[in-house]
Amino acid sequence: MNTSREHLAHQLAEAVAEALNADLAHQDRALLVVSGGSTPVPFFHALAAKPLPWSRIDVTLADERWVAEDADDSNARLVRKHLLTGNAAAATFVPLTTDDETPEQGAAAVGERLAGLAWPASMVILGMGGDGHTASLFPDSQELALALSTEDTVVAVRTPSQPQARITLSADRLHQAKRHVLHLNGEDKRSKLAAALGGDDVRELPIRAFLACPLAIYWAP
Ligand code: 6PG
Repeated sequence: MNTSREHLAHQLAEAVAEALNADLAHQDRALLVVSGGSTPVPFFHALAAKPLPWSRIDVTLADERWVAEDADDSNARLVRKHLLTGNAAAATFVPLTTDDETPEQGAAAVGERLAGLAWPASMVILGMGGDGHTASLFPDSQELALALSTEDTVVAVRTPSQPQARITLSADRLHQAKRHVLHLNGEDKRSKLAAALGGDDVRELPIRAFLACPLAIYWAP
């Protein structure tokens, strides 16, 4: 593993642990929202090793593919495998899928499930794709405008560029978090982020919806 990416993962884990501890000093439970994809794996390992009061921490996802929880491309599977290990296994993980066939059918139940959590989230850790998407806010998705404007917690998403239907936290729900981080690696993502910072059209590069949260950028080459 690239050493600077490993360092970055440890620095991010340190910041997340600090934020969770700060919130847990004055609230019973704290909520952490993480992203899937490949970038977060070393961060998950670093965070899982932190001596946190995990039984008071809930973890959910910024978005999910509408697939079985044991499917290779399930973000829930990724989190269970890499984050909910050792002491961190005591955290409560709240998935974004149901047994319904489609996210449109399951979204209301997922919204109800999430309603019981300690919102606003202590921290949201976002990733970004090569097309400037974040969570499942894709530039080519029909539901982008809805996901950017609704006050609902989650939105079912269909995106021509993606093989599976998805479900995503709405931009509103993500915005409400107390702290926002964008975690990304590599030159391609650096240039995409530079392009995002250089303009305003959120529909073109949806990551722009979060640039003024404020957003802490954790980037390594
Ligand atoms: C997901 C997330 C997505 C992810 C980016 C970056 O894939 O589950 O929806 O927003 O954070 O696509 O993915 P990589 O980390 O794999 O580059």
